[in-house]
Amino acid sequence: MSPAAPNLAAIDAVAAWAWLAGELGAAAGSARHAFHLLTVATVNPDNTADTRTVVLRHVDPISREIRFHTDIRSPKVQAIRREPRVALHWYDPAMRLQLRIAARGTIHHGDACADAAWNAAAPMSRACYTTDVAPGDRLEAFPDGPAAPAAGDDAGRRHFAVVSCRFDEVDLLALHASGHQRVRLHLAHDPVTWSVLAP
Ligand SMILES: Cc1cc2nc3c(=O)[nH]c(=O)nc-3n(C[C@H](O)[C@H](O)[C@H](O)COP(=O)(O)O)c2cc1C
Repeated sequence: MSPAAPNLAAIDAVAAWAWLAGELGAAAGSARHAFHLLTVATVNPDNTADTRTVVLRHVDPISREIRFHTDIRSPKVQAIRREPRVALHWYDPAMRLQLRIAARGTIHHGDACADAAWNAAAPMSRACYTTDVAPGDRLEAFPDGPAAPAAGDDAGRRHFAVVSCRFDEVDLLALHASGHQRVRLHLAHDPVTWSVLAP
């Protein structure tokens, strides 16, 4: 069950960001949180748009960074390297809350950031990176699920990457029967400010 979204009319921008950062932090640590999954939009090399679901793995409200994990061979990696501007989206129907974030993506592969995330990853998560085929490859038949590697098995490490998404603003839309509330949080301001927007 999601916690109730705050009434934005009763708080200020600093409190709104503190609440949201807390929720995103909780979502990174719990598959039961509605914000655990997000949609990431990218621009393909042919300038068409693309979206996909990923798991929220890490949130740093100070550096304003969100991270997810991916396979270095997946097409989104090439897309982000070519066009780092990405868009992140969440909607929780229970809270009736939409989040939109425009961010800049950076790929970490074989560096300290990727190594730390790999070392902390569960065996079942590591298993996804042990396949011979790359995400999006054409196959003759559906593949078997990968076997969970033994603890300490590094077979998938070379395919494992972390995508870091840094941002300065968050667009928040809270639906209320008494009137929808939309704000853009300006996080690079100290203290944080917001602009109230038409929903
Ligand atoms: C519930 C769910 C969670 C997923 N989590 C991830 C993830 O954390 N990282 C990832 O790269 N792909 C994840 N995927 C798969 C992607 O949605 C996508 O199919 C895959 O990464 C290939 O994307 P691309 O062709 O855009 O690179 C997830 C899919 C679902 C349905």
